[in-house]
Amino acid sequence: MTSPELPQAPQPSSVSLEKTIYTLDQMERITVPQIALAGRSNVGKSSLLNCLANRKNLAKTSSVPGKTRSLNYYLVHPEHYYLVDLPGYGYAKRPKSERNAWGNLMRRFLTSNKGLVGLILVLDSRLPPQAPDKEMAGMALEQGLPLLPVLTKADKCSQRDIAAAKRAWMELLGPEAAPVFFSAKTRLGRETLWEQIRLLISSQDHPLPDSEAQ
Ligand code: GTP
Ligand code: MG
Repeated sequence: MTSPELPQAPQPSSVSLEKTIYTLDQMERITVPQIALAGRSNVGKSSLLNCLANRKNLAKTSSVPGKTRSLNYYLVHPEHYYLVDLPGYGYAKRPKSERNAWGNLMRRFLTSNKGLVGLILVLDSRLPPQAPDKEMAGMALEQGLPLLPVLTKADKCSQRDIAAAKRAWMELLGPEAAPVFFSAKTRLGRETLWEQIRLLISSQDHPLPDSEAQ
């Protein structure tokens, strides 16, 4: 008699830096499925990635805004897809020319990126929705890209403030887009976020390419 198959516990995924890119041509050649991390400068994107990866210094973090300047592609094994750490937006001290260049890069990243499956929108749980966050969310929704909002630095504010931020974002994005409460410091929300990332990746139309693909 054969025993029924037991459901398998999800394997812990490992995350490693695979590519750092600076130009659009390089970006457009990558077809492996990707989920990107977008958010304002200094909101905690790189810290979130380190927390997911269980590594302290995989992505460089800094208390000074504007640390991440390139597109950094982190490969998730064994599933074989990328988490892409993007440079932050909304940093007013940057020269205008640089901010325009960032805007162009993001638009192209969102519109001509064959592998892009969704966007993790990293938001500050202490603040109401900010104009550049709404703009970023709008750009993603225009492309029909699924959004996964995450309210980070939750360790720094009261339950009441987080609940208010959650309500405000759900009013903007709809009731299905309930943000994940997250803290890179306490690891709150880490498991939930991994689950949502896996759901998003498994809901894509195309099967994951084999590891030969770029
Ligand atoms: P850029 O690369 O400049 O766009 O910034 P980033 O969004 O990658 O932010 P980063 O992860 O570098 O974090 C910015 C600062 O916020 C650092 O000093 C982090 O230690 C701090 N930080 C990030 N996440 C959290 C969190 O969940 N809780 C607390 N208390 N601090 C955090
Ligand atoms: Mg960063």
